[in-house]
Amino acid sequence: MSSDPYDDRGNKDASITNPKGMGSQIPKSSGTSFSAPGGPFLIGDTMTGGYGKGPDILHDCTIAVEQGEIAVIVGPNGAGKSTAMKAVFGMLDVRSGSVRLDGEDITNLSPQDRVAKGMGFVPQTSNIFTSMTVEENLEMGAFIRRDDFSDTMAQVYDLFPILKEKRKQAAGELSGGQRQQVAVGRALMTQPKVLMLDEPTAGVSPIVMDELFDRIIEVARTGIPILMVEQNARQALEIADKGYVLVQGANAYSGTGKELLADPEVRKSFLGG
Ligand SMILES: Nc1ncnc2c1ncn2[C@@H]1O[C@H](COP(=O)(O)OP(=O)(O)O)[C@@H](O)[C@H]1O
Ligand SMILES: [Mg+2]
Repeated sequence: MSSDPYDDRGNKDASITNPKGMGSQIPKSSGTSFSAPGGPFLIGDTMTGGYGKGPDILHDCTIAVEQGEIAVIVGPNGAGKSTAMKAVFGMLDVRSGSVRLDGEDITNLSPQDRVAKGMGFVPQTSNIFTSMTVEENLEMGAFIRRDDFSDTMAQVYDLFPILKEKRKQAAGELSGGQRQQVAVGRALMTQPKVLMLDEPTAGVSPIVMDELFDRIIEVARTGIPILMVEQNARQALEIADKGYVLVQGANAYSGTGKELLADPEVRKSFLGG
């Protein structure tokens, strides 16, 4: 087995991926975790539910990520991808099904308690405080920590050097790709054991998308599994260990990224042929 599971993935330009050769110093998850035998590290298992008293949006929907992997969720607009992520993070009551983290049933925990358990979540919208500086955003990210988080901030700046340069600027003045870096950096400030990203490359150019994917791969390399929704389905599946295609709140296809990219039905319906 290769020592680097992501060796064959993503952009090979090391100057973009790893500008200072300090990839090994970006945030590590705190503590050691042991997955339950046979179970994924994080799973939303056969989740059914919707908003408030409204109709079910999710129908026996399952999304999961294994330790050391990147899992990607794709599917048409309105398929329920964001809803599934919110359900896993505890922002939506599941009427049936469960959410488990590292073997523990967390279905009834609040989002705050899930953060304390080691979940980091970057939602699709409103994921930064635009009127605060970049640095203040990162400080807000560390809100649950009582210890000195300056090392983690330095690690986030190593991962996203542009954020160090712009640390005193209002986050709202940054470009779309830079704002997404702020959002991911903010989530890393809690030293999460698993990171959930909802459309981290929304609205950015293809070049910036490649760069963001490279940084995401770097985070995964440090041992933080990543569960991510992406509208750039083909590119995302290329870096995915596992992929899920959701349609109308239900699992339509799942498999390894490679399997989904090779599946004629998936290609025809979701990848533009
Ligand atoms: N806050 C909300 N309240 C009620 N319905 C919502 C809310 N957010 C999304 N929905 C509905 O849930 C369905 C799935 O939406 P969403 O999860 O955002 O899809 P996707 O992320 O795949 O584009 C849509 O029909 C949408 O209108
Ligand atoms: Mg969405």
